Amino acid sequence: MSQTSETEGLQARRRSMTRRAKDFSVLVGTAGMVLLVLVLTGSLGWIEALSGIFVIGSVASAYYVGSASLKTGGGDVVSVAASTPDSVLTTDLLAALPLPAFEVSRDQQRIVAYNEPAASFLRLGPRRSAPPRASVIIRTPALLAAIETCLAAPEGVSSSLELEIGPDEHWRAHIHSVRASDSLLVLLEDLTPVKRAARARADFLANASHELRTPLTAISGFIETMRGPAREDKDSWDRFLAIMAGETERMSRLIADLLSLSRIESTEHMLPTAREHFADIVMNSVDALLPLASDRGVELVVEGAEDLPDVTANWDELVQVAENLISNAIKYSGTGSRVVVHCGVAADGFEARSLAAQLWEGSERMTLLQTPNRVAVNELNVWMRVEDQGPGIEREHLPRLGERFYRADQSRGGKITGTGLGLAIVKHIMTHHRGGLAVETRIGEGTAFGVWLPAAKDAPPD
Ligand SMILES: Nc1ncnc2c1ncn2[C@@H]1O[C@H](COP(=O)(O)OP(=O)(O)O)[C@@H](O)[C@H]1O
Ligand SMILES: [Mg+2]
Repeated sequence: MSQTSETEGLQARRRSMTRRAKDFSVLVGTAGMVLLVLVLTGSLGWIEALSGIFVIGSVASAYYVGSASLKTGGGDVVSVAASTPDSVLTTDLLAALPLPAFEVSRDQQRIVAYNEPAASFLRLGPRRSAPPRASVIIRTPALLAAIETCLAAPEGVSSSLELEIGPDEHWRAHIHSVRASDSLLVLLEDLTPVKRAARARADFLANASHELRTPLTAISGFIETMRGPAREDKDSWDRFLAIMAGETERMSRLIADLLSLSRIESTEHMLPTAREHFADIVMNSVDALLPLASDRGVELVVEGAEDLPDVTANWDELVQVAENLISNAIKYSGTGSRVVVHCGVAADGFEARSLAAQLWEGSERMTLLQTPNRVAVNELNVWMRVEDQGPGIEREHLPRLGERFYRADQSRGGKITGTGLGLAIVKHIMTHHRGGLAVETRIGEGTAFGVWLPAAKDAPPD
């Protein structure tokens, strides 16, 4: 901006100087002619004429010196021009904007002003002596083309366009023509989070509908069969009805999981307030799953659920965490195997993670949710480790556990039905409780999921 103002100031000064020089010569010339005529006609003596020339010369010089002083004080003019209310306003306005914003001069197409967010968007280094050219700095061809179009167009043309920078980075550019400063104002709006949220929502809906449609298709298929080809074959009806009951159960499980996911999400910003016995939560969940364990021929045992500090928690949510992890362990390990639920207390979140999910030598490990650092350090944590002797989980699946609808065992023929929402629910609940979630696994030997969360403060001694 200062460059433009400097040029304008210089031109104004030159114009003013020329005008004064013209005035000066006209004034002196006319006065000289008048005096000469008066002297020649004898109306004026030589002495008076000379005095007249001196006075007129002095006045004219004083007039001209006025312009000369403007010349020597040129810097002031430039700085005055540079700090005209308009330009100061633009700089201050840009600085006040939280979005990247910059100004491009129309005549030289230079970036004459920009704010800090724009500096990082444009990757502008330290300030240079001359404003940089837009074509050198702007690396997004679409944005540069739009700016050039607006620069070439008559004043007052504005435009707005979406930019895709990289695979997952979206921006919207608003280009506005500013008449007062004969420049363009470019404003950039980051659309990436909005686009990401929209895609996640669309994916979620697509997945949920797909998961609901699968059992529905099976049920309606059997209804058709029972009404048509198998109408008279009453013996096969029992089998069909059993399958239909299973599919119905799957649908209601899915709906229950979807509902609890949305309930947890809607309360995620509110920290739990109730004080609960962590050991009771664990014991309750284990008791609820004993029938499933015995159904599957799995031995379910608890270790270390005594003398645990209380937690500030939502009882139902933590029960859901324990039940999801324990039922997975039971579901995914074979008959005759053993599932052990270990609990304990640790000095901080890091120690809790080691005790809960970093125990086996040579295991593949993954932290799926890390406690926020300020919480993890120096806060007593309680932890729970659910360990099974199942098939283990292939390493490539580990980072995606906890994603909604992600199932590592899909390729194993899908014998075990699940919603793929269990670990996503666990992760959400642990986030809500400022806790953590981690897994360790050894192929063919077993898997252990660990969760931990801060113990309730000022726990009364038992
Ligand atoms: N204890 C475990 N042993 C082996 N694989 C597991 C275990 N727990 C979870 N998984 C894998 O993680 C996937 C996601 O688990 P989850 O979110 O609970 O969904 P699901 O409804 O399929 O149980 C499961 O489909 C399974 O592939
Ligand atoms: Mg599950």
